[in-house]
Parts: sequence; C-alpha cells; structure tokens
Amino acid sequence: MDARIFLRAAAAASLLLLCFVEYASAKTFASTLLWYKTPAGIFNEGLPIGNGRLGANVYGSISKEQIALNEDSFWSGGFRDRVSSTALPAFPTVVKTLEGGDLKAADNLWNSNMTGNPTWEQCFQPASTMFVDFGHNASLAQNYNRSLDLLTSVNTVTYSIGSVQYTRQAIANNPMDALGFRYQANSTGSLNFTLSFTRGQALRSVNANASTRTITLRGGGTLDKTLEFTAKLKLVTQTGTVTASSDGTSLVVNGATDVQVYFDGEGAFRYSSPATWEAVIDNKLNAAVTAGWNSFYQQAITDYSALASRVVLDLGNSGSNGEVETRARVANWKKNNHLSTDPELLTLLYNYGRFALISSSRPGSLPANLQGVWNDQFYPSWSSKYTLNINLEMNYWPAEVTNLPETHLPLFDFMKSMQTRGQGVAKSMYGANGWVCHHNADIWGDCAPVDSNTYWSANTMGGAWVSLHLIEHYRFSGNNTFATNIALPILSDSLSFFYDFLILNDRGYYVTSYGASPENAYLVPNGYPSNGSVVGIDQGTAHDRQVLYELFKGFIELSQATGSTAGVAKAQQYLSKIEPPNIGTTGYILEWSKEFTENEPGHRHLSHLLAVYPGAQISPLLNQTLANAALGSLNHRLSSGGGNMGWSRVWAVAIYARLFQGDLAASSITNLLTNYISSNLFDLNGGVFQIDGNLGIVGAVCEMLLQSHAGVVHLAPSLPTTTLPTGSVTGLVARGGFAVDVAWSNNAFSSATIKSSRGGTLALGVAGGISFKVNGAAYTTPFNTVAGQTYQITL
Ligand SMILES: *[C@@H]1O[C@H](CO)[C@@H](O)[C@H](O)[C@H]1NC(C)=O
Ligand SMILES: *[C@@H]1O[C@H](CO)[C@@H](O)[C@H](O)[C@H]1NC(C)=O
Ligand SMILES: *[C@@H]1O[C@H](CO)[C@@H](O)[C@H](O)[C@H]1NC(C)=O
Ligand SMILES: *[C@@H]1O[C@H](CO)[C@@H](O)[C@H](O)[C@H]1NC(C)=O
Ligand SMILES: *[C@@H]1O[C@H](CO)[C@@H](O)[C@H](O)[C@H]1NC(C)=O
Ligand SMILES: *[C@@H]1O[C@H](CO)[C@@H](O)[C@H](O)[C@H]1NC(C)=O
Ligand SMILES: *[C@@H]1O[C@H](CO)[C@@H](O)[C@H](O)[C@H]1NC(C)=O
Ligand SMILES: *[C@@H]1O[C@H](CO)[C@@H](O)[C@H](O)[C@H]1NC(C)=O
Ligand SMILES: *[C@@H]1O[C@H](CO)[C@@H](O)[C@H](O)[C@H]1NC(C)=O
Repeated sequence: MDARIFLRAAAAASLLLLCFVEYASAKTFASTLLWYKTPAGIFNEGLPIGNGRLGANVYGSISKEQIALNEDSFWSGGFRDRVSSTALPAFPTVVKTLEGGDLKAADNLWNSNMTGNPTWEQCFQPASTMFVDFGHNASLAQNYNRSLDLLTSVNTVTYSIGSVQYTRQAIANNPMDALGFRYQANSTGSLNFTLSFTRGQALRSVNANASTRTITLRGGGTLDKTLEFTAKLKLVTQTGTVTASSDGTSLVVNGATDVQVYFDGEGAFRYSSPATWEAVIDNKLNAAVTAGWNSFYQQAITDYSALASRVVLDLGNSGSNGEVETRARVANWKKNNHLSTDPELLTLLYNYGRFALISSSRPGSLPANLQGVWNDQFYPSWSSKYTLNINLEMNYWPAEVTNLPETHLPLFDFMKSMQTRGQGVAKSMYGANGWVCHHNADIWGDCAPVDSNTYWSANTMGGAWVSLHLIEHYRFSGNNTFATNIALPILSDSLSFFYDFLILNDRGYYVTSYGASPENAYLVPNGYPSNGSVVGIDQGTAHDRQVLYELFKGFIELSQATGSTAGVAKAQQYLSKIEPPNIGTTGYILEWSKEFTENEPGHRHLSHLLAVYPGAQISPLLNQTLANAALGSLNHRLSSGGGNMGWSRVWAVAIYARLFQGDLAASSITNLLTNYISSNLFDLNGGVFQIDGNLGIVGAVCEMLLQSHAGVVHLAPSLPTTTLPTGSVTGLVARGGFAVDVAWSNNAFSSATIKSSRGGTLALGVAGGISFKVNGAAYTTPFNTVAGQTYQITL
C-alpha cells in the first residue's frame, strides 16, 4: 500500500475502511489530485463540485472567494412551440427540389422555410454567485494550496497568515441534495468574513436574515417568468457573531472559528409554487444542519467514492514529473512531456471525467448539458444546452463501460420529454407520426430546428442518435423491464417517424427525405444548377444511414431479447434496405449520397464515421475493407485540420481505438492534452469550456483497453506500441454484463479477469487475435459462463 494514500485517507477522517482498501491500488496523488499553489482567478481555472442537480465552481482570490452556483433546471424561460408555419407547406417542395437536382435551391428553401421560429432555444443560466470576502491581504498569505481530490470529491483551499491557518472546503452531497462549504481558522475567533449572494440578471430579491442566519435569493429566467426560483444559503457557527449588512443582502461573521454554509436552490421546473419549493429548500437545509458537518461531509464522501472507486486505472507512474502542481504539469505536457513522461496526467484526466459525470448526472437530475452543471454566463456559448449531433451522446460515453449506469438514467428520463415534444414537431413540421428531434434540445425537450443553416439545422437524426443510448444501456444491463417499459416505446415511436420520413430511392434503398452530415457541407458538382456553391442538405447521407442502421438493428435486438414481435418484421424489411457505407474513388467513406467534394476536408465533426464509434457497423472484425476506408477518412480529416476542438480530438481517439490503431489513438490523446485542456482540466472548445471532451475521453481510453461492440469481448484491442508500456484497469464492464480487469506490460496484454454477472455466452478475443488461455486451457470457441463465476485469461 502506498504510504501517502494511507496518510491521506486517515487525514480525511474516518474514511470507510472499505473504500480505503479498494483505493490501495490507485497509483499516486498524481493520478487522483488536482492541486495549485495559486488561486483560480477566473471561472475556467476553478475547481468544480456537483451532486448531479446542483453544481458549484470555486474560484476567486485569497481575499475573496467566488463560487458560481448552478441548479440544473434554472434556464432562461418556458417552452415555446417554435415550428414555423411555413415548414409543413414547404416540406414537399424542399424534397421535390432536392430530387429535381437543384441542390442549392433546396438548401435555400430549407433555410428560409423550415427553420424554427425563433431560431434559438432556451439557455442554461446561473443560479447565483456566492462571495466569501475575508479581506485577507494576499501578499501575507503563505503555503497556499488549492486542491480537488478525485478519490473523495473534497475541494479544499488552505493558507496561513501569520500564525493562523485558514481552511476552506466545499463538497457536494447527493443523498441530502445540498452543497456544503466550511470555513475554518485554526485559532479561536480568528475568522471574519462577509457572505454575500447575488445574481447579475433577473434578480428579483435578496434578503439576509441575521436571526435565521440565511440569505434568500429569488430570481428567474431572463426571458419570461416560467422558471422562477429560490436559492438559499444557511450559515451555521457555534462561536462569533453574525449580523446582517446595512443593505440587508449579506451576512457579516465576526470572531468565529468554524463556519459552515449550506446551499440549495429549487424552482418552478420541478415544483408548482414558491411556497412548495421554499419548503423543500428549508427541509433540505435543515436536514443538513441537523446532521452536522461531519455527517454531511462523510455521507458525501461515502456516496461519491462508492461510484468513483468502481474503476481503477493505472497507466504507469510519472515519478517526479507527477509531483509538481497540476498547472505546471499541463504546461510541461504542452512543452515536452507527453504520455511517456507524465502518463498519470492522462489518468488524472480520466478520473476527472468520471468525477465530472458523477457530479453532473445522477438519478432525478437533468442530464449533463454542454457544460455539465457548471455555467456562470446568462447567455453561454451554444446556450449550454443539449446538442444532439455528438455532444450530448459523448457526455455519456463513460456511463456503461466504467460501471456508472445510474448516471445514464437522467438521459432516459429526459428522452421522454424529447419524445413528447418531438411528436409535436413530427406532426406539425412533416405531417408525420412518431417523434423527431433535430440537432439540439433545451430543458423542455424542444425538438424543432435550431439556427437557419442546413449544415447543422437540417439534421433529423438528433433524437434517433440519442435513442441509441437506450439500446446500449440494455446491452450492458440486460434489464428486460427497462427494454420493455422504457426503451422499446421510445425506439418504436422513433421508427414510426422514419416510416413516414424515409423514401425509397431509385436504387431501392430507403433514404431520409432530407438530411445533413453534421456539420459539414459539400460543393455542388458540375452538371447541377449552381455548381460550385456550398450546400448542406442531401438525401441519405452516410450519417443518416449509419444512425438508422443502429436504430433499426437495436430495436430488433431488444424486441427479440424480450420476446416482443410488434413491428419487428417491418423493421427488418427497412433495415435490409438501408444502404451500407460506400467507398468513394478516394478510398474514403463517402460522406454524402454521391461523391460530392466536401466543403471542409478538415471538418471538426466526424459524422460519417459514426459507424465506427459509437456505432458498430464498421469494424476490422467485420469488414477490413470498410475499416480501412474509415481509417483513411479519419486520417484525411485530421491531416486537413480536423480534430481541432477537444471533443473532436476525443472522437478521433475513440475511432482510432476501434480501428485497432493504438499509436494513433495515443497521439490524438497527446494532441488533446496539449491543445484543449486548461489548467483545471476543463476541456476547451475554441476557448469555451465544454464538458463533452472531459467525459468523452474516459470512454475513448476505455476503447483502447476493452471493446465489446462487435460480437466479442476484446481485451487490450488497441494498446499503443511505444507509450504506456505497462498498466492495468479494474472494474470495466463489457456488453453482456461482464466485469473486466485487464493488465498489460511491455506494450502487450498480460492477463485479465472476467466475472460473469448474469451468465450467458462469452466470446473472447485478445489484442486483435492472439492465442490465449481461459482458466489455463487454450481458448478455442465461445463458452457459456456461470453467473458469479470468474474466469482468468492468460497467455
Ligand atoms: C419559402 O420561403 C420563401 C421566402 O421566404 C417564400 O417566398 C416561399 O413562398 C416559401 N415557400 C413555401 C413553399 O412556403
Ligand atoms: C498587504 O501586505 C503587504 C506586505 O506586508 C503590505 O505592504 C501592504 O500594505 C498590505 N496591504 C494592505 C491593504 O494592508
Ligand atoms: C498541496 O496539497 C497536496 C496534497 O495534500 C500536496 O501533495 C502538495 O504538495 C501541496 N502543495 C503545497 C504547495 O503545499
Ligand atoms: C495553526 O496552523 C499554523 C500553520 O500550520 C501553525 O503554525 C499554528 O501553530 C497553528 N495554530 C494552532 C493554534 O494550532
Ligand atoms: C476580526 O475582526 C475583529 C473585529 O472586527 C478584529 O478585532 C480582529 O482582529 C479580526 N480578526 C482577524 C484575524 O482579522
Ligand atoms: C428573519 O426571519 C425571521 C423568522 O422567519 C422573521 O421573523 C424576521 O422578520 C426576518 N427578518 C428579516 C429582516 O427578514
Ligand atoms: C430495470 O429497469 C427498471 C425500469 O427502468 C428499473 O425500475 C429497475 O430498477 C431496473 N433494474 C435494475 C436491477 O437496475
Ligand atoms: C459550372 O459548370 C460550368 C459548365 O460545366 C463550368 O463552365 C463552370 O466552370 C462551373 N463552375 C464552377 C464554379 O464549378
Ligand atoms: C466489405 O465491404 C465492401 C465495401 O462495402 C464490400 O464490397 C464487401 O463485400 C464487404 N465484404 C464482406 C465480407 O462483407
């Protein structure tokens, strides 16, 4: 056991022996602790906490701590039916114009007639900002240390001034559903600060009450009054005085030693009246106060670590390169270090991704949005909403494979509202049955198109792509009740839409009436009107077909597994007429229905490679010709300038891993950490924080170590040949419900342990096809497993 881990576990006070034993195999602090010698001046350097529904990002200065607070349902306003009245009459004209070959005219017609009205959806907005003003003189502070511990989720700042040490802690508690902050001085009566609570826009009132030791803030969305809410701070101290500031908006603490502040916010999205939600707030805050800090804190750690500890990744030890502060490690990586000298920075990023998922998506919460649950802007980039053409899906890449299936549930709850709204869109935009969602959704599940640019707006696959998560959840869990009650109703309703929206083309294939290859466009070829102009709309793009293939196939699979025959024959008939991916004269996967020239060869999106990941239609195990074409397509995208955002690079890592290109996956990881990760490990997209890359990299790294999408549980399919020579991972999950531990050394598979959770056939592969033994006997063929039994895989 690592002595430092022992000491820290002990210092974390009564950390359960159980957790502590499980953590013994975690490598070092370098893999599990973010720490800094200087304060976070800006939001994008802050260290977040979250309990799924509530989020906080801690930054500010030594003198004044600033905490950006969020509640997942505080958005800008109410539901709006944005389907344009011109859409339904224009729809047949768009299709006819496309079929007539005037591609540019069809594109224009779409942009002027089919887009939503207004073209934008609601946005995620801050709850409030909490300031803790200590008035400390920063130049007198010594031994400043700020950290986020991914083993416990504890967020800490410590420093001393003179002989007094100050400690600030922040922690998110899921079971009690509140956030807690603690401020301490190690010298009696040395704690003075002003606690204030404010909001930049749509602030209805703020009221500090010294006798109840609360600050109550009332606010709402900036657009309308649909989403009014209350946020509240409750302060607890045994010593010192607490008074209200003269303007009645702050609490002034004097001569205290140990002060706790609890936060909750509730509002109109979940409750019918202010009286109801304010009673809920008081109940939660009173429960926290009654429990007391030690219980609140311990419960938060126990709850978090039970999830976080399910997977332990070891990519090797960084030695002294891992012992410097995190900001310097990120900077060193950019300079020269990379995977070979600081492999634990990748482990840290991986653990951070799992931390972020646990902190932004828990049963009962909304799904993680573009920024998880951390946003300080009233009009954040892309509205910090649910972007369905890669980003929301990427958020959930780690959910099943790293054994966090409960974090996936908010997505399925949310899909029910998408389905309801999407039925309205299907009917009023297309006169179609079923449900459809375009490339975005807001908190209301608004499924109408966003923006007026076919490149992304004319994509009708958003809802269908998200629906694939229902299928994956079933493949991992084997939960028939889920398949019958949750998944199949949403999937079959999606198929209903496509039965109306798909048309048979002249080659006998079903294609979308129109679609896009988000978010790229193509040049109209010679021989067509407006040749040379740039167009985003097409019938039967590779992307559309790849999503449809997975959707139909998954629907049939879940139906058969649960003994349901409803709609299966029709789905099979359609599936057989979805055209497989085509290879163009360049040797790449054709992105559009014909060999059109792509407008941006280096486009950030990899929409035509969905079939490799997260889909399963293209795999070297299934068809090497298609796999080679996909590899060429990805290389071409990246060499032309693609992979130029965090999430884009992450997608490349996952696709390379699926194509058994461990070295290319590793070099894209290096590129990610060099260019798109900020000092606090936030993933950046053109300088803007987006959580997708943080969450997605976890799933992408898993694909290098374990795959199970192509009919076999494949161990160590894509290890790099030069970096990360030795390592292990424990606690991953394969489709079929197999718990998998894998170890490798000298860049080669060494051993694995597989535990069957529910029996079933186990087809195995190792490292692309080398021979191996199961429980000492040579593996020849898939075998039946016994639930609860463990199988040793060796060479
Ligand atoms: C589409 O929009 C154009 C321009 O706004 C308009 O002139 C035309 O009538 C619309 N077409 C249909 C079919 O609604
Ligand atoms: C902060 O401390 C420095 C160093 O002792 C001192 O020069 C400065 O005047 C102090 N600032 C204030 C505002 O007290
Ligand atoms: C900050 O805290 C971490 C963990 O306790 C420790 O490893 C690191 O050395 C500390 N840094 C400083 C400057 O005290
Ligand atoms: C408070 O902490 C400081 C810094 O660690 C230390 O020097 C001092 O002795 C402590 N004071 C008390 C009363 O424990
Ligand atoms: C706290 O405030 C009191 C009175 O305002 C003052 O006497 C005391 O020195 C302050 N303590 C510190 C540590 O600043
Ligand atoms: C503080 O709260 C108490 C108890 O609810 C209430 O009686 C009192 O009027 C409040 N004071 C202010 C200033 O709001
Ligand atoms: C199976 O799915 C149902 C419906 O979603 C759910 O209520 C139940 O808890 C799930 N069972 C397990 C073991 O997770
Ligand atoms: C469009 O096609 C015409 C006729 O083939 C050709 O002369 C012209 O150069 C093309 N324009 C572009 C921009 O491709
Ligand atoms: C593999 O895909 C290529 C290209 O679509 C196709 O021509 C070939 O028949 C496929 N091979 C097999 C074995 O399915």
